[in-house]
Amino acid sequence: MPIIAPSLLACNFLQLEAECKMINSSEADWYHLDVMDGRFVPNISFGLPVIEQIHTVATKPLDVHLMIVEPEKYLEDFKKAGADILTVHAEVCHHLHRTVQHIRQLGMKAGVALNPHTPIDCLEYIIDQIDLVCVMSVNPGFGGQKFIPSTYTKVKQLRKMIDDRGLAVDIEIDGGVTQDNASEILKAGATVLVAGNTVFKSDNPLEVIKQLKHSLHIL
Ligand code: DX5
Ligand code: ZN
Repeated sequence: MPIIAPSLLACNFLQLEAECKMINSSEADWYHLDVMDGRFVPNISFGLPVIEQIHTVATKPLDVHLMIVEPEKYLEDFKKAGADILTVHAEVCHHLHRTVQHIRQLGMKAGVALNPHTPIDCLEYIIDQIDLVCVMSVNPGFGGQKFIPSTYTKVKQLRKMIDDRGLAVDIEIDGGVTQDNASEILKAGATVLVAGNTVFKSDNPLEVIKQLKHSLHIL
């Protein structure tokens, strides 16, 4: 069954505790937390103090997606704030190998995110050193965008790269995931589904999470 990671970017921040409790009681597996700096992406979201607060109520791992330049400066801070999985973008890391090693040394799982235009080749010499690849299926920066179809091909290629090496790296799809495309994404080889608007803008988030969790059985 897939790992479901609701993205709190789309939640009601005035009801943050209630939203967290909803996730705790749901079939979701992780919290997906999107940190944006207004430099790597043209938007600003939330940062360390909010993640610290979420950490006090969350009963599930925190999957933190850093859409920031120079993420290497803040790895320890995110560990202290409660991150379990820390994902950096390949496009901003001059020393990606060093950065993922440091993330693991700090006791977190290491993820690498790729923008829609970034080929998977850049993972060739690092895929065996990481726990997760976050394949962006929209241009990062905003929730509620439309899924980019070329993601399917990218996921299939990545699935092959991982399987050929006998690795157990998770493939996370981030952006535009809905109940309609979830099963096709999973069939292409993804193991983690991030969903923001699909979950939080629905009338019944618990039911939507359940549907995503069981997408492969529904069809
Ligand atoms: C986009 C973020 C996503 C976003 C997904 O830059 O990385 O995690 O919250 O939102 P939806 O699921 O609404 O496309
Ligand atoms: Zn994200």
